[in-house]
Amino acid sequence: MDFILLGPPGAGKGTQAKLMIDKWQIPQVSTGDILRAAVREGTPLGVEAKGFMDRGELVPDRVVIGIIAERLKEDDAAEGFILDGFPRTIPQAEALQGILQDLGRNIDHVISIDVDDEELVTRLTGRRMCKGCGESFHVVFNPSAKEGVCDRCKGELYQRDDDKEETIRQRLRVYGEQTRPLIAYYEKQGKVRRINGTGSIEEIFSRIADAAGN
Ligand code: AP5
Repeated sequence: MDFILLGPPGAGKGTQAKLMIDKWQIPQVSTGDILRAAVREGTPLGVEAKGFMDRGELVPDRVVIGIIAERLKEDDAAEGFILDGFPRTIPQAEALQGILQDLGRNIDHVISIDVDDEELVTRLTGRRMCKGCGESFHVVFNPSAKEGVCDRCKGELYQRDDDKEETIRQRLRVYGEQTRPLIAYYEKQGKVRRINGTGSIEEIFSRIADAAGN
């Protein structure tokens, strides 16, 4: 089961990926999480990526393609993976095709999650993330049992630097210009299932399971 989760910032890709891991026992591969870890650790990758991320722009293709080429070779991805936040541009999608060809694999499902922009802004301004496991919560829609503490691993919750309204709107613009064209790209390959991303987290998960034929 090789999945791509497509959708604008705040569509619920990370939230749904966590449920998909449990159901299909395959890893989530999130370029955003990998880049944020690099920023926290102050690695050369993190230093290069930070400015782009803080401005709500995309990190250069060559950087994220290199990350994915290495990550998909790891043993835990042998039975499948959930790509969350990659690809985000046509050159990234073309590079992914080459990487998968070399591994003798193919994308099975591209799930595109649709949510309107004002709902996305509300979701992202209220989002809180876990420093430990990356789980995402929302102060109103999906609060943790104890304020500021992750339900899953008891880690500390924080607000992402790019979850300020101005940066969110820039990320939405970048999504429209550079990432939305991927829906048509994968539609031409007959792989896209578009799902309504509004409703409860469980309802959306059941739409994804239906779209994947499970
Ligand atoms: P990344 O981390 O990938 O961010 P994103 O795509 O902007 O997506 P988000 O993580 O913001 O949203 P999500 O869809 O996962 O939503 P979530 O489940 O958290 O990328 C960050 C940056 O890294 C980019 O801007 C770029 O700079 C760089 N980058 C990453 N990948 C790159 C690439 N491939 N190329 C170049 N640059 C790259 O949910 C959001 C909130 O809503 C949460 O609070 C959640 O609790 C809540 N929520 C979820 N579901 C529901 C629901 N059904 N109802 C109500 N609330 C809900």
